[in-house]
Amino acid sequence: MNTEISTDGKNFKTKLSSYQEAIEEAIDRLLPAATTAPTRIHEAMRYSMQAGGKRLRPVLVMATAEFLSAKNETTPAAVAIECIHTYSLIHDDLPAMDNGDLRRGMPTSHIQFDEATAILAGDALLTYAFTLLSTAYNAELGLKLIRELSHASGSEHLIGGQMEDILSENTEATPKQLEFIHQNKTAALLTSALVMGAILANANKATIATIREIGRNLGLAFQIIDDILDATSTTENLGKNAGSDATAHKNTYVTLFGLQAAREKAHTHTKKAKELCQTLTGQTSFLSELIIHLENRIN
Ligand code: IPE
Ligand code: IPE
Ligand code: MG
Ligand code: MG
Ligand code: MG
Repeated sequence: MNTEISTDGKNFKTKLSSYQEAIEEAIDRLLPAATTAPTRIHEAMRYSMQAGGKRLRPVLVMATAEFLSAKNETTPAAVAIECIHTYSLIHDDLPAMDNGDLRRGMPTSHIQFDEATAILAGDALLTYAFTLLSTAYNAELGLKLIRELSHASGSEHLIGGQMEDILSENTEATPKQLEFIHQNKTAALLTSALVMGAILANANKATIATIREIGRNLGLAFQIIDDILDATSTTENLGKNAGSDATAHKNTYVTLFGLQAAREKAHTHTKKAKELCQTLTGQTSFLSELIIHLENRIN
């Protein structure tokens, strides 16, 4: 794993932690207080949002905005995308979907509260993402961010990927179908994180096009590694139910191609993402190091 010093003089891990700390602070500041009525929904929103997690999507927003020298505030956009991601996890864990009882090392929302509360907490986080974007930014910037995030989260991307993931349980997907699932359920939102950072920096079209291609490769690698970890790691290490893909008869890169080929595919996409990153102007060393770090992650 590459832990070289970033060019701004900060160690990669120190910089990652400083982004993560800023995000934790912003989540606490920007979410409705747990004491807001009805307290149960606000407690449930905060429970899942503050359970931990890698905060990868917000980090991508902030790191991209930073290397492109954005002048706009990044934390509302970072929290908004984490709201979408966390809602997708709460719903992904529901009995009707992946039926998980552990997430981010804690009981899932429907276990800690109940199914109705978990569904509503997911709905509320999804909605709140757009409340945040429409109140924190001016009309033009807010609209651009909302268009980007809503498109990536919608039925043609994140939800569409989740739909196909569920539909293909107990069937054998083709490699093309599997790539569609991974591209949409996972890579689309990760791409959107990078693009939102670029929008905050008023980046030009060519930069955004390269960034989308980085996101696609980073996102595909990320989901392949998620599949590998599900098959090879432990519940304790992952903080979520290991082996759940096999139990649910999911299609994954591991079931379709085997572990070794899955690792190679993750590596190819990681390499591509890193190479594309190096074609961008600006201080992209943190992003490059993050891409490598994600291939080697253990949870
Ligand atoms: C889990 O995402 C769901 C996938 C898209 C694979 P993360 O691995 O980013 O989950 P957290 O946010 O760290 O809990
Ligand atoms: C979930 O993919 C992707 C979304 C929630 C959109 P997985 O079902 O593989 O995620 P985990 O493994 O439960 O985190
Ligand atoms: Mg799932
Ligand atoms: Mg799942
Ligand atoms: Mg998984």
